[in-house]
Parts: sequence; structure tokens; C-alpha cells
Amino acid sequence: MQTVVMLLALAIATAGAPGCMNPRKGYEPPQPIFFQHLRMAGPANWTVDDKGRELNLGGYDIPCVYCHTMPYKGRQSTLPSTDICMNCHSTVGVDKEWVLALKKYWDDGRPIPWVKVHDLPDFVYFDHSAHLNAKDDQGKPKVECKDCHGDVAAMGVVSVQNRFNMGWCLECHRKPEKAAPTDCVTCHR
Ligand code: HEC
Ligand code: HEC
Ligand code: HEC
Ligand code: HEC
Ligand code: HEC
Repeated sequence: MQTVVMLLALAIATAGAPGCMNPRKGYEPPQPIFFQHLRMAGPANWTVDDKGRELNLGGYDIPCVYCHTMPYKGRQSTLPSTDICMNCHSTVGVDKEWVLALKKYWDDGRPIPWVKVHDLPDFVYFDHSAHLNAKDDQGKPKVECKDCHGDVAAMGVVSVQNRFNMGWCLECHRKPEKAAPTDCVTCHR
């Protein structure tokens, strides 16, 4: 009963401001450092330049969880701290402009002010681990990163790939093969 009253209050509170809280499909905020997933998480693409030097135009196949350490363990995926970047960039590309920018934050002891791409309203309960650890009858994962975030390893700047609204959540939860709960308290508690 309490939950229903709360949800009705919410419906009224949000009625005049549709979508003001939840970034929509296509939202692609600029980031403080031009970080491209395709250069880190994407597959390699080696070529030889006109001076005969080997050059990787692609990425370094770094697994998502090397940087996003929590999605299988908790609600949040978490963003990497600058330490993780400096594991490599204290020796890789040290004279490049973007590494100098990275190092400046590091030296100043300031976290990089990454801009949130996805941000559900606070009255929605979401949990990464509940999704990523769920298995079907064959023992295969029911969902993967790309079902919700698209092919991030092929992206330059990350953008929102799906609607991330209630209809979108429910569309998947209602699929028989997902067997995910659809009662209100699943996502509003
Ligand atoms: C080398 C470290 C690194 C790797 C590897 C990496 N990421 Fe990221 N990721 C970041 C950083 C840094 C950000 C924050 C800057 C940005 O949004 O581009 C980020 C942002 C994101 C976001 C948006 C977060 C938000 O604010 O909503 C998603 C989604 C994401 N990564 C998914 C992935 C997936 C999926 C993979 C694997 C295919 C992956 N990442 C691999 C470092 C990494
Ligand atoms: C496992 C090693 C590794 C880690 C960890 C890593 N990088 Fe990189 N990064 C590389 C390599 C290798 C290159 C390519 C260097 C070059 O092109 O000279 C690169 C290139 C880059 C570039 C330039 C890409 C371009 O468009 O040319 C940026 C920006 C960058 N890294 C940022 C980051 C940030 C921010 C983090 C932490 C979230 C990070 N890296 C973590 C290895 C790493
Ligand atoms: C079922 C859909 C779904 C799947 C699968 C999924 N995510 Fe997310 N992800 C979301 C939602 C929804 C948010 C926004 C959460 C919020 O704002 O509270 C999010 C946010 C993020 C963020 C921003 C930080 C945070 O936790 O809010 C990162 C980084 C991220 N996801 C990475 C990943 C990675 C890496 C994977 C795979 C290992 C993954 N996600 C799988 C739906 C998903
Ligand atoms: C691509 C499919 C898909 C999408 C999109 C999706 N989910 Fe899920 N969700 C699942 C699956 C599969 C499970 C796990 C079912 C199981 O336990 O086997 C799940 C489980 C959950 C759970 C845990 C339920 C419990 O108590 O066990 C919550 C909470 C949840 N989802 C919220 C959301 C929210 C909020 C969104 C939208 C922002 C969303 N989901 C989008 C497939 C999806
Ligand atoms: C699978 C997850 C999920 C379930 C189940 C769910 N909701 Fe939602 N709900 C959401 C998300 C995500 C939003 C945020 C939508 C946005 O920001 O666009 C939301 C938003 C709302 C809002 C705010 C108005 C709006 O539409 O944005 C109300 C009211 C609401 N839900 C009521 C309910 C009721 C009542 C039920 C049960 C019949 C329910 N929800 C079940 C995920 C869910």
C-alpha cells in the first residue's frame, strides 16, 4: 500500500516534466579526456605505415571488468580510478597530450570528472549483478553488457544506446525466456 501511494505521488510529480531525469537514447556528453573505448577495449587492427612501422589503429582488447570492476558483484559497475589508467600510462604514450592531461589529474590528486552517461532517477532500483549472474536452462548468461549498452568496444565517445525507461525494462522482463519479475517492487522499493 505504501509503495502504491509513493508511486502515485511520483506519477504526479513527474507528469509535468517528462524525462527530465533520465538521459535518453542518443545522449552523448563530451568527456574531460577524449577517451575512446574502441582504442582500449576494441580488437586490434594492425597496419604498416609508409615508413614501414607497425601501427595499431584498433584497440588492445582490454576486458570490460579490468576497468569496470564491480558489475558481477554489486549494483554499480563503477568507473576506473586514475590508478588503473596509470598502470599503463605511466609508461605508455607518456609524451602524448592526453596522457599529460591524465597525469595532471593524477599529480594533483584529483579524480577525473567523468560525466555520467546513464543516470536513472533515484526512485528506480537497478542492480548489475542480478542481471549479469542470471543463467538460463543451458547455463548461458541471460543478458550481457551489449544487450543494454550496445557494442561499447566499437565506440569512440560512449552514448546511451537504448530508451532506459520503464517500457524498455519491462519489454525485456516480460520475455518468457528471461523469466524476470515484473511486479512494481522489483524496480521501485
Ligand atoms: C581502459 C579502461 C576501460 C575499459 C577496458 C572499458 N571501459 Fe567503459 N569506461 C571507462 C571510462 C574511463 C569511462 C568513463 C568515460 C566515458 O564515459 O567514456 C567508461 C564509461 C563506460 C560506460 C558509460 C558509463 C556511464 O557514465 O553511464 C559504459 C556503459 C561502459 N564504459 C561500458 C564498458 C564496456 C561494456 C566495456 C567492455 C566492452 C568497457 N566499458 C571497457 C573505462 C573503460
Ligand atoms: C592495459 C594498458 C592500458 C590501460 C589500463 C589504459 N590504457 Fe590507454 N592506452 C593504452 C595503449 C597501449 C594505448 C595506445 C598508445 C598509443 O597509441 O601511443 C592507449 C591509448 C590511450 C588514449 C589515446 C587513444 C587515441 O585515441 O589515440 C587515451 C586517451 C587513453 N589511452 C586513455 C586511457 C584512460 C583514461 C585509461 C584509464 C581509464 C587508460 N587509457 C587505461 C594502454 C592502456
Ligand atoms: C540489463 C541492462 C544492463 C546490463 C546487462 C549492463 N548494464 Fe551497465 N547500466 C545499466 C543501467 C540501467 C545503468 C544506469 C544505472 C543507474 O543510473 O543507476 C548502467 C550503468 C553503467 C555504468 C555507469 C556506472 C554505474 O554503475 O551506474 C557502467 C560503467 C556500466 N553500466 C557498465 C556495464 C558493463 C561493463 C556491463 C557488462 C559487464 C553492463 N554495464 C551491463 C544497465 C545495464
Ligand atoms: C535485456 C533484458 C533486460 C533489461 C533491458 C532489463 N532487465 Fe532487469 N532483469 C533481466 C533478467 C534476465 C533478470 C534476472 C532474472 C533472473 O533472476 O533469472 C533481471 C533482474 C532484475 C532485477 C532483480 C530482480 C530480483 O529481485 O531478483 C531488477 C531489480 C531489475 N532487473 C531491474 C531492471 C531495471 C530497472 C531495468 C531498466 C532500467 C531492467 N531491469 C532492464 C533482464 C533485463
Ligand atoms: C523492470 C523495472 C520496472 C518495473 C517492474 C516497474 N517500473 Fe516503474 N519505472 C521503471 C523505470 C526505469 C522508471 C524511470 C522511467 C524514466 O525515467 O523514464 C520508472 C518510472 C515509474 C514512474 C514515474 C513516471 C514515469 O513513467 O516515468 C511511475 C509512477 C512508475 N514507474 C510506476 C510503476 C508501477 C505502478 C509499476 C508496477 C505496475 C512499475 N512502475 C513497475 C522501471 C520499472
